[in-house]
Amino acid sequence: MKKGKFITLEGGEGVGKTTNLSFIRHFLENQGISVVVTREPGGTKLAEKLRQLLLENQEETISEKTELLLMFAARAQHINNVINPALERGDWVLSDRFTDATYAYQGGGRNIDTSLIAWLEQFVQSGLQPDLTLLFDAPIELGMQRAKKRGSLDRFENEQLAFFNQVRKAYLHRAQQNSERIKIIDATQSLENVEKNIQQLLITMV
Ligand code: TMP
Repeated sequence: MKKGKFITLEGGEGVGKTTNLSFIRHFLENQGISVVVTREPGGTKLAEKLRQLLLENQEETISEKTELLLMFAARAQHINNVINPALERGDWVLSDRFTDATYAYQGGGRNIDTSLIAWLEQFVQSGLQPDLTLLFDAPIELGMQRAKKRGSLDRFENEQLAFFNQVRKAYLHRAQQNSERIKIIDATQSLENVEKNIQQLLITMV
């Protein structure tokens, strides 16, 4: 039985998810809510190993199908060992990315059929969905500049601009199709305004 709430943060590279994640965590903790902060791919020892395999620049090409299955393998482990137990305890789970990222990156970026992703989603999640998803949106060029400033680029960050444009388009499409759950936050605004937006959305949940 799910007692806590499940919030996910999504967006392209360098849109400021990490900064906002700590704002959300503090906001919720100040309301007396116990929060588990986690991320995908990752969140458990095994899933973090899969993350490393997925993000490292590999000598061997990772096929699109392998990439998709590793994302869901990590997710299955994450749901089973971290997300579901936390929600059952009544904690709130705050995850830096979840399945909308698969629709955006593997669906939009790699062109994998959405119905296949939906099948895996059903198989792995058995109906588990976030209660709220914040989609941080910014022009690709801006995000990439920020990502480059952070240092060396991972396997995804090394993709071409066209890939990120497809990712952004897929995210926005998904937000349109799931407008009750996915709220778009304009990540080009000042941090203060972004925080105001987030706060307005969270207040309706606590
Ligand atoms: P990040 O957490 O630093 O944003 O890095 C995670 C990378 O993994 C990011 O480039 C997006 C990618 N990703 C996918 O391609 N599919 C997924 O399902 C998830 C969760 C992440």
